[in-house]
Amino acid sequence: MAKTNLKEKKAASGAKLKVVDDSAIKTTSYSDINLKQWRNYEHVKTDTLWEFPSRLKEGGHSNEYHGNYIPQIAQQIYERFTKKNDIVLDLFFGSGTSGIEAVNMQRRCIGVELKDELVESVSQKFTPKQLVTDVNIICADSASEDAKSKIQARLDVMGKKNAQLLMLHPPYDDIIKFSDRKEDLSNCATTEEFYNLFEKVAKNGYDLLEKGRFACLIIGDKYANSQHIPLGFECMARMNKLGFITKAIIIKDMQGNERAKGKTANLWRYRALAGGFYIFKHEYVMVFQKV
Ligand SMILES: C[S@@+](CC[C@H](N)C(=O)[O-])C[C@H]1O[C@@H](n2cnc3c(N)ncnc32)[C@H](O)[C@@H]1O
Repeated sequence: MAKTNLKEKKAASGAKLKVVDDSAIKTTSYSDINLKQWRNYEHVKTDTLWEFPSRLKEGGHSNEYHGNYIPQIAQQIYERFTKKNDIVLDLFFGSGTSGIEAVNMQRRCIGVELKDELVESVSQKFTPKQLVTDVNIICADSASEDAKSKIQARLDVMGKKNAQLLMLHPPYDDIIKFSDRKEDLSNCATTEEFYNLFEKVAKNGYDLLEKGRFACLIIGDKYANSQHIPLGFECMARMNKLGFITKAIIIKDMQGNERAKGKTANLWRYRALAGGFYIFKHEYVMVFQKV
């Protein structure tokens, strides 16, 4: 962490006072990174290839939910695109990674998740006080008007008109089926329907995000009918259609969260050689700004 410069000053009484020298701090409007001490932020990534050898398991995180993202993504994105106390809005809350890391980094979070049983179990990861002041979890369909008005009500209680960061980690179409509910993005009849529902959710996010602030989309592609289906790039196009500009397309190495090992890995290698395709080793972390 960067340190602020303290200077000693004499008060009228003659006592020595320690005051912050403001000229030693320069930040952007959306981050607490002190640009005057930019050399102190070696841990903050500025390149487009992210490799994390393993998933962070400390700090309240666990790997029990198939399909959660690794907490290091939240750490990187929050530090670059939020300030202390800012509100992160996550419209696919899942097992609550965004909320846990918001608490760890003194940010706040509103999370929306479709599955009520999951909302119930995830709520237990937070203290009753945190659930009032720091992390608000809503059970709703993120594409709906109902979700939007519930989020607005929570923002109101938290003293803000808008969220300061939007996190979107949707199902990667039908790769992992999260539920049988018709509103579930992993349960769409076609990939086109998935894109349309994603766009609806992203539109709610766009409307609720403060102007000038950022959105982060975590997504991977899939193979179907012997071809590569670029879910990431089509979702990016939908984000752009809504008015977001693309700031970064980051390739994140999946080694830290892949499960296929041993025999399964060999099977995929055989299939790749036989079918003329390549095995996914990456997913995308895309960064957008509402201008
Ligand atoms: C890829 S997971 C997100 C995991 C989360 N980022 C984490 O780290 O645990 C996608 C989540 O979106 C939820 N979901 C799917 N459709 C939804 C919808 N229409 N509204 C809200 N949540 C939805 C699923 O139930 C699932 O938990």
